[in-house]
Amino acid sequence: MSVTIIIGGQWGDEGKGKITDSLAVQADMVVRPNGSANAGHTVQTDAGIFKLHLVPSGILYTDCDCVIGAGVAIDPESLIEELDDLNKRGVNTSRVMISDRATVILPYHPLLDQLEEQSRGEQSIGTTLKGNGPAYADKVGRRGLRIADMTDERTFAERLRLVLAEKNKILTRIYGADPLDESEILEHYASYMERLAPHIGQAEIAVQDAIDAGKRILIEGAQATLLDIDYGSYPYVTSTSPTAAGACQGAGVGPGQVDRTIGVFKAYITRVGSGPFPTEEHDQRGEILRSRGKEFGTTTGRPRRTGWFDGPVARYAARINGLSEVALTKLDILDEFDRIPVCTGYRYGGELISNPLASALQYGEVEPVYEYLDGWRQDTSNAQTMDDLPAAAQRYIERLEELIGRPITYIGIGPSRSQILERGVAV
Ligand code: GDP
Ligand code: IMO
Ligand code: MG
Repeated sequence: MSVTIIIGGQWGDEGKGKITDSLAVQADMVVRPNGSANAGHTVQTDAGIFKLHLVPSGILYTDCDCVIGAGVAIDPESLIEELDDLNKRGVNTSRVMISDRATVILPYHPLLDQLEEQSRGEQSIGTTLKGNGPAYADKVGRRGLRIADMTDERTFAERLRLVLAEKNKILTRIYGADPLDESEILEHYASYMERLAPHIGQAEIAVQDAIDAGKRILIEGAQATLLDIDYGSYPYVTSTSPTAAGACQGAGVGPGQVDRTIGVFKAYITRVGSGPFPTEEHDQRGEILRSRGKEFGTTTGRPRRTGWFDGPVARYAARINGLSEVALTKLDILDEFDRIPVCTGYRYGGELISNPLASALQYGEVEPVYEYLDGWRQDTSNAQTMDDLPAAAQRYIERLEELIGRPITYIGIGPSRSQILERGVAV
């Protein structure tokens, strides 16, 4: 048995796709447990750049099964587009399995996402507008439709009639928008379901069978700890649990079945959308991080906010997720700096604190306490082993390791599959 969870330790886009792809060379199955097409995971190989939204990042290996778990919200149209794009690029997608328990994003979800964001005005969350929040709200409100409901025409029509009547009242009476047409939705979604039918199955059973057969499984989380609905900077969060516990739930595995939990962290930090971000850098150095790091959203193309490595966030994520180890990505982006600030704590109300705060208002007011580490001003992207890294870069990694409180076992030094160093730390 071998189950490894890979999750984001910051505010997303840490390089989970790249780390998953790198580890998937030795995996039999990769499972996506949560989120929707709000996620964008990039994998770069000799065949080019792949931007994956719902399909797990094991898809580029011909012998790796890829499972979209029960915890995911699926927009069938965008999943079909993703599968078709992969097929066009010569990637075989027949090994993609979709959980029949996954909740479905219907046309009113992205519409409501947009209308809700507009009505929040200055307090908008900066969502990806993919319908993620409204779809999960319907799921927990027991108004959602599962993939399994939609494969049966009569159930689909009955359930949709009930839900759409309510949604149309909200659209027309609250937002003054046009109502949606039931028969149009039924027709479109029936054709989507026909296309997806060969992929639909009992994903959690496939996962458990793979565990019983001693196969090697990766669970590739989407989003990240500080976007978690409970532990993130609420309400500026996503609507799922992108933690290790959430990954278990979404994939259909128990915590006792997990062997390793790898947290992915950038060597600095970024955030897309609104909300507190204590180490955000607004000056020229923030711009350098953005341009060197190509920090533009994989899903929305929005410029990412950039800042310095945040020790309290990292340590919090390490503990909340029970991380066994850490993959540190994008070290190469720091190659140009003379001195690199690293946040070791926060000051709030005259006191020194060492954890993120629950209130977004208060968390937005904390001031980072920085320690300045020497830069290395040397290209790290061609390093073949840890020993090739400049001494200052090694010290930077060791200091981050102390702050996180977990061993850093992988270092990313470039976007491509081969630009990863393994670090011989016993775990
Ligand atoms: P994810 O959502 O966590 O999978 O991350 P994204 O794919 O949205 O964003 C990470 C970006 O950084 C992508 O463009 C990756 O190709 C790139 N990337 C990942 N690891 C590294 C690294 O070590 N160095 C550099 N320069 N780029 C990286
Ligand atoms: P990956 O898996 C970065 C952010 C959005 C917004 C908030 C809520 O690629 O790391 P939502 O559409 O989920 O309702 O938006 O969460 N967000 C992400 N930020 N990476 C992601 O995914 C994200 N998924 C959602 O920008 O602030
Ligand atoms: Mg991303």
